[in-house]
Amino acid sequence: MTEKRNHNAEHYFASTPKSEAKFGMVHTRLRGEDFKFLTASSVFSKKQVDLGTRLLIEAMQLPDAGDVLDVGCGYGAVGIAAATSNPQLHVVMTDVNMRAVQLARKNLKINKLSNAEVRCGYLYEPIKDSTFNCVLSNPPVSAGMETVKAIITHAPRVMAEEATFQMVIRSKIGAKTLPSVLTETFGDCMVLARKSGYRVFLAKKVDLR
Ligand SMILES: C[S@@+](CC[C@H](N)C(=O)[O-])C[C@H]1O[C@@H](n2cnc3c(N)ncnc32)[C@H](O)[C@@H]1O
Repeated sequence: MTEKRNHNAEHYFASTPKSEAKFGMVHTRLRGEDFKFLTASSVFSKKQVDLGTRLLIEAMQLPDAGDVLDVGCGYGAVGIAAATSNPQLHVVMTDVNMRAVQLARKNLKINKLSNAEVRCGYLYEPIKDSTFNCVLSNPPVSAGMETVKAIITHAPRVMAEEATFQMVIRSKIGAKTLPSVLTETFGDCMVLARKSGYRVFLAKKVDLR
């Protein structure tokens, strides 16, 4: 997370932000495509696409077809870039912050996507009866490492066999902790990309029977 917040600002992970929404528009290029994102106060990285988000988007390995989950989608950059990269995918984006969910829904329309949807709720609760071929996460580190760990350890329940889990984190925060949590959960993990003080980790769900 690179964004500075003033002392009285709400956390970006408040479920129903109370502050008046001040809107902005981010124009950016990701994976060779142009995007416009409507953003607002009390939502993560409202002035620009965060460096960690950008690294995850540029590095992410997407399946040829199937279902992709962007857990903690914010205004939707990761899920929208995934849905644009491959129209064969169906992308589900979730967030606990209702304002983020509303923005992500608007951003699907602004970017003319019909192969993605947005659901509101805590971690995997909104998609608990589904399985995915790929789970993508730029986790809410400000909410605490327990939340980050829960995103990792609960992911296999919503993953198909051979599905990948891909998470970006600031190296200073996650370089030591994440490999052990990922390895305990999935048996192994690798660093997919490393840049600007961030790392993208990838782990695969394998059938250990
Ligand atoms: C670091 S931000 C990343 C947002 C977006 N993926 C991006 O990269 O721009 C983490 C997101 O997780 C959401 N979040 C925090 N706690 C959550 C929870 N328990 N369940 C679901 N989403 C959560 C926050 O509201 C925030 O939008």
